[in-house]
Amino acid sequence: MPTLALIATGGTIAGAAASATDTTGYTAGALGADALLAAVPQLAGIAGIRAEQLFSLDSKNMAPAHWLVLGRRVQTLLDDDAIDGVVITHGTDTLEETAAFLALTHASAKPVVLTAAMRPATALSADGPMNLYSAACVAAHADSAGRGVLVSFGDAIYPALGVRKRETHRLDAFGGASAGAIGRTDPLRYFAPPAAAPRPLIALAPDLAELPRVDVLYIGAGTPPGLPDLLIADGARGLVLALPGNGSLPSAWEPPVAAAVARGIPVIRASRVGMGPIGRKAMDDRLGTHPAGELPASQARVALMLALAGGDATALDRLLADDYIP
Ligand code: SIN
Repeated sequence: MPTLALIATGGTIAGAAASATDTTGYTAGALGADALLAAVPQLAGIAGIRAEQLFSLDSKNMAPAHWLVLGRRVQTLLDDDAIDGVVITHGTDTLEETAAFLALTHASAKPVVLTAAMRPATALSADGPMNLYSAACVAAHADSAGRGVLVSFGDAIYPALGVRKRETHRLDAFGGASAGAIGRTDPLRYFAPPAAAPRPLIALAPDLAELPRVDVLYIGAGTPPGLPDLLIADGARGLVLALPGNGSLPSAWEPPVAAAVARGIPVIRASRVGMGPIGRKAMDDRLGTHPAGELPASQARVALMLALAGGDATALDRLLADDYIP
């Protein structure tokens, strides 16, 4: 039987409410890894599990400093010959950022699988136990090797890059990039062999203590174009614009965006629309902006933070190129 490491970080999957019918008024991250395991005795038939509690967070409070701690712990476990795969339990709210961070900083043949839940562990029909069981099945399965970081949620398997939370309450809360899920867990199967070996965007420097600040700006009709200057003056080193439609930049925003790029502040054109790619336009050549490709704005922000941290100006364009994300 394989041996899996389980890293618990909190979230609704470890949430507790006073009532079994309360699915919104609860405390995320209230239960420990031992309670998660106790709810799924069937895991004993899948793998040996070495569980640890790294954080007990509501994932709205997860920050880049936590990503660095988690990333280093995952690397240590992947380097351990006794560990065949890693499962991470997380809150759904910022799971897509943590998943992107791990995908962009790790390259191992061993699976790293994130999962979560929409209902707290105390709820009627809590979805956490089955999601945890499925994630462990994914991490323990030979066909998961070489697929990089994965998200197993609601019977579907997604590559980490491109995944996004798309529902505020429903159990089927996650979706992938344009290509959608790459497999299912009911029963476990992948739709195609792995496309390419996982490639890290940057290797984490051992002394990297923080990530450069990148902000996401949501642009509505008439949003004042002076906002980039305010954020840059406040310390932002890069910007992601969540723009209308397919990354349409309002005309009034062109001068401040061009000025930001000229000052060495990279700007990514993403979309405020939930789904769909952002391709390169003539505007990107004119202004020096980067289209987000298949990444939602939340993940484009993580990618830009890492590209800035790695000091590699070409990394971002490599990442946003079509072949990186399935
Ligand atoms: C969280 O993200 O920690 C709370 C919400 C959730 O897990 O669904």
